Amino acid sequence: MYQIVTELTGVPRTLLLPLRGRADEQSNPHPLFQDPLAVEWLKLAGWDQELEKLYSISAKASSIAVAIRTYQHDQIASRHITNHSHPIVVELGAGLSSRFHRIGKNAYRWFELDLPVVTELRSKLDTQTEQHQFISASVMDFDWMSNLPNVEPENILFIAEGLLPYFEVNEVQQLLSMMCSRFPGATLDVEVLGNYVKMFSKMFSQIGAPLKWFVKNEQDLSAMELQVVNAWPLYKLHQERWPWQWQLLLKFFTQFPYFRNAYLIVETKL
Ligand SMILES: C[S@@+](CC[C@H](N)C(=O)[O-])C[C@H]1O[C@@H](n2cnc3c(N)ncnc32)[C@H](O)[C@@H]1O
Repeated sequence: MYQIVTELTGVPRTLLLPLRGRADEQSNPHPLFQDPLAVEWLKLAGWDQELEKLYSISAKASSIAVAIRTYQHDQIASRHITNHSHPIVVELGAGLSSRFHRIGKNAYRWFELDLPVVTELRSKLDTQTEQHQFISASVMDFDWMSNLPNVEPENILFIAEGLLPYFEVNEVQQLLSMMCSRFPGATLDVEVLGNYVKMFSKMFSQIGAPLKWFVKNEQDLSAMELQVVNAWPLYKLHQERWPWQWQLLLKFFTQFPYFRNAYLIVETKL
C-alpha cells in the first residue's frame, strides 16, 4: 500500500477530521455503520499531525460526534433513496465521504462535489461511474448546478455535512437563494453550528479554516427561505454512545437552547 502525497491546506484540510472519525468508529466493537473504505482511505491519504490537537480536543468526543452525525445523514439519505423514483444525492463539500459506498447502490445518480484539489485526491482513491460522479468545483460557482440531471427537483437530496459554517452568512444566503430558485422542492440536509461552538473558533483558525457562520437555532434557516422539516440536535442523538459521565452532562445541558443548538442537523425543503 503506498501513501498518496497531497498537501491539503485551508478548509480542504478539514476533510481529514471526519474521515478519521469514521475510520476510528470501525474499531468500536459495535460500530454505528460499516466503513472499511474510511480506514483504507485514511491510510492512503495520511493523517496530518497538526490536526491532532483539534481532533483529540476531548478524549473520544470527535470520533463519537462524527460517527453519530454520519449515521444520521446516512439515515436521511437512505430514506430519500427509498422514497423517490429517480433519487439523486449531491454531497456538497463531499471531502472523502464514502457514503455512496455505504448506502448509495440504489441511487439513480450520486454526485461528490468538492474543490479541484479534493476531487483530484478522490480520483486517486475512488472510481467514477455513470451512477457515481465527481464534480470539481466551488459550491459558490453556481455553474455546477447545470451539471445535475434534469429531473423533478423532489428527487434531489443535497447534503451539506460540515461545509456551510466555513462561509460568511451572506455567502450562505446567496447559495441557498440560488438553490431555492433552481431546485424548488428538493431536500437539503444541512449541518449548522450554534454560538456555543464559537469558543473553539480559534483552533479552527489556527489550522487555516476559520469558522464564520453560526446560527441561533434552526429558525435562522427558515429566515433564509428554507422550509424546516426536521431538526436534530446532534448531542441529543445516540447518547448511549458517550461515556456515562458525558451522558449525564449531555442530558442536562441539552435542555438549554445554547447547548441544544450547538450542533444541529436540519432537514429542509428548498
Ligand atoms: C469538514 S470537511 C467535510 C467533508 C465531508 N462532507 C465529510 O463530512 O466528510 C469540509 C469540506 O468542504 C470542502 N469545501 C470547502 N470550501 C468549498 C467550496 N467553496 N466548494 C466546495 N467544497 C468546499 C472542503 O474541501 C472539505 O472537503
